[in-house]
Amino acid sequence: MTQPFRTTTIRGTLYDHPKYYDLVFGAGVGLEVDFLQGCFDLYAGRRVHRVFEPACGSGRLLINLAKRGFQVSGWDMSRAAVDYCNRRFERRGLPAPAALGDIVNVCLPAKVDAAFNLMSSFQILPTERAAEDHLRSMAANIAKGGLYILALHLTPSRGTPIQRERWAARRGKLSVLCRIWTKQICSRQRKTRCGMVTEARTPRSRVRIVEDCAFRTYSAAQIGRLFEKIGHFEPVATYDYGHDLDDPIIVDDRTQDVVYVLRRR
Ligand SMILES: C[S@@+](CC[C@H](N)C(=O)[O-])C[C@H]1O[C@@H](n2cnc3c(N)ncnc32)[C@H](O)[C@@H]1O
Repeated sequence: MTQPFRTTTIRGTLYDHPKYYDLVFGAGVGLEVDFLQGCFDLYAGRRVHRVFEPACGSGRLLINLAKRGFQVSGWDMSRAAVDYCNRRFERRGLPAPAALGDIVNVCLPAKVDAAFNLMSSFQILPTERAAEDHLRSMAANIAKGGLYILALHLTPSRGTPIQRERWAARRGKLSVLCRIWTKQICSRQRKTRCGMVTEARTPRSRVRIVEDCAFRTYSAAQIGRLFEKIGHFEPVATYDYGHDLDDPIIVDDRTQDVVYVLRRR
């Protein structure tokens, strides 16, 4: 006889459930790491060995870079994510790379050769002030010639913005489905409010994580002005979320997904 599902609904954030986050957003990790390494080789004005990820989450990118010989570290605000990330390193006999910290003001013990933020986490920073402080503090912690690889969902002024995303993945008996949709665009406040529901299923149980999240919006012109204002970074290349090094893009008023390769002056 089939066992009935036990369903638990949690009002919280997927970031505090890194096992599910890691599965559902981890599928393209190999491609992302190839892309990062390719950018280091192509665009950095120095040899890249020491790398840092602000808002590192489960550490899915950090562990794969560590396996390729990079010295890695990361900050995140979720205790659960930091613990998950550090445990996966400790299991392999590697030093724990993640620390609890707010990326508004990053302060590292030594400068890094490169940093990266590939999942639009920069847009979680709610105000222009927080975004500026983040970029300035990143500049202070990246050595001259080093890179900051920063991904954003831009708000296009032509074309229709993407309003829905659906991510799904399965590992063994666990399957995770995550749906994100736009609830409200507050243009004057430059804020997009989104709903997000994640369902994690095994044959015996189902967990639903229900949350609202908000992202600061940027047009191509707004982020360009911000980079200019900060002054420490030179944009040297742009790509889309396909992470294809052979296919750089030119950002225009239709662009939505963009990865900026910024070089520290
Ligand atoms: C979309 S996840 C990205 C995780 C990781 N960068 C990746 O590519 O898988 C966003 C992460 O940002 C973290 N976060 C949000 N605001 C933060 C802040 N102000 N300081 C540090 N971490 C933050 C969350 O806890 C979450 O782990």
